[in-house]
Amino acid sequence: HDPKINIAIDGPAGAGKSTVARLVAEKMGYIYVDTGAMYRAVTLKALESGLKDGPPEAISALARGLQIGLVPAKDGQRVSVNGDDVTDLIRSIEVNRTVSMVAQIEDVRKLLVDKQQHMAASKGVVMDGRDIGTQVLPDAEVKVFLTASARMRAERRYKEMDGTAMTLDELELDIQRRDRMDAEREVSPLMRADDAVLIDSTQLSIHQVVDHIIDLCKEQIGKEIT
Ligand code: CDP
Ligand code: CDP
Repeated sequence: HDPKINIAIDGPAGAGKSTVARLVAEKMGYIYVDTGAMYRAVTLKALESGLKDGPPEAISALARGLQIGLVPAKDGQRVSVNGDDVTDLIRSIEVNRTVSMVAQIEDVRKLLVDKQQHMAASKGVVMDGRDIGTQVLPDAEVKVFLTASARMRAERRYKEMDGTAMTLDELELDIQRRDRMDAEREVSPLMRADDAVLIDSTQLSIHQVVDHIIDLCKEQIGKEIT
């Protein structure tokens, strides 16, 4: 039995975190945890409850009552709230617009960070987000800060969409606005942990990034992974 490690992947929107984290988890036989999906799930429910501009206390109270489920699936991960599948709903433009506001609420963060730490307690987890290497898993054996230019990140997101919802320029603005809110907030801002390896994927393929991270894991475990 190889010793299991935890892998933390942070970075701005569209850097490739979830794509890469899922593939690394697959190669390692580990569990992938998408923490952004948890903030998105709380945001979806806050929107549905008309709490978008409500007091932060109301949103954190709502969050405490939610049973958020992350279930590994063939195409990544299914997300449920109180038993309902919300995997597609949490990717809406409305959730995109509101999620960074909800993610600033300290009590919401405390609640979700606590859940995330529980999920990683027995190791063998690849977790992506904004504060994994700094707050959630400061002792993760491998930490990566994955980034790419805002234009490239917008282009990648654009290719994923059907092309009608937003223009490329709108997407880039949305991404830049979210980058700013995530990096400038008081609680657990998006930043690179001192001991995180910086990977700029602007000119790298998904597989080049995955291979780089697997190499970092091999170094930590001291064994071949195929
Ligand atoms: O996939 P994308 O990069 O667009 O975003 P995400 O990872 O789904 O995260 C959505 C939002 O949740 C981010 O813009 C952050 O505001 C927030 N978030 C956070 O604050 N902390 C995390 N660990 C993960 C996400
Ligand atoms: O999770 P995050 O928001 O950081 O990004 P993502 O949703 O995993 O990746 C955004 C898009 O970029 C996906 O369609 C990936 O296939 C693509 N991508 C890429 O083309 N080249 C890379 N080196 C990394 C991601």
